[in-house]
Amino acid sequence: MANDNNPAARYGRGAVVLHWLIALAIAANYVLAWVSEDLPKEERMALMGNHKALGIAILLLTMLRIVWRLVHKAPPLVETLKAWEAALSRVTHAALYFVMLAVPLAGWGLHSSASQGRRWACSACSISPPCRLASTSRPSACSMNCTKCLPR
Ligand code: HEM
Ligand code: HEM
Repeated sequence: MANDNNPAARYGRGAVVLHWLIALAIAANYVLAWVSEDLPKEERMALMGNHKALGIAILLLTMLRIVWRLVHKAPPLVETLKAWEAALSRVTHAALYFVMLAVPLAGWGLHSSASQGRRWACSACSISPPCRLASTSRPSACSMNCTKCLPR
């Protein structure tokens, strides 16, 4: 590629390191939550503790990455892109940043509402057919211990 030796045409080292650190951490955190689902309660809670800690680290790293991105200029898009392709690329990148913030914030919200908001969450789940079906067919996958769907 002709642009490979021109630093302005590439993302800086900080952006690249943060991109891959966060991508790996997201993949690892997904696996942690997934694996913990089928474990006995004590082991699940221990693994979920690590899941939450890593999730908060991802949130902080994403905030750092956004600041980094605002301070450092991103390389220009390839000139051959059509206007709609360039617009789609910007929207996709913005959507990825949104998800990188929204997922850990949603997890944090879930964690914080575990005691107080549980009744509210159970009611919401019990009137949502897909959620109700998921929690009744696989009770171990739902940690809310609510009595609305299943007698426990
Ligand atoms: C959880 C996984 C991932 C997330 C959240 C993510 C997020 C992002 C974001 C937000 C950008 C935009 C950077 C910016 O301009 O500010 C980006 C760029 C990029 N990502 Fe990822 N990424 C992930 C995984 C991957 C993987 C697996 C690959 C390659 C196989 C990849 C390749 C790239 C490339 C090549 C760019 C630069 C695109 C360009 O030149 O405009 N990413 N990524
Ligand atoms: C990028 C970061 C994160 C990713 C990718 C992620 C992903 C996941 C996934 C895939 C699940 C399993 C959902 C299911 O039951 O099918 C889950 C569950 C959960 N996550 Fe996260 N999470 C993240 C961050 C966080 C954070 C920061 C917290 C709390 C501080 C958190 C708390 C929870 C809790 C409490 C559950 C269990 C929900 C339940 O079964 O009741 N997560 N997460």
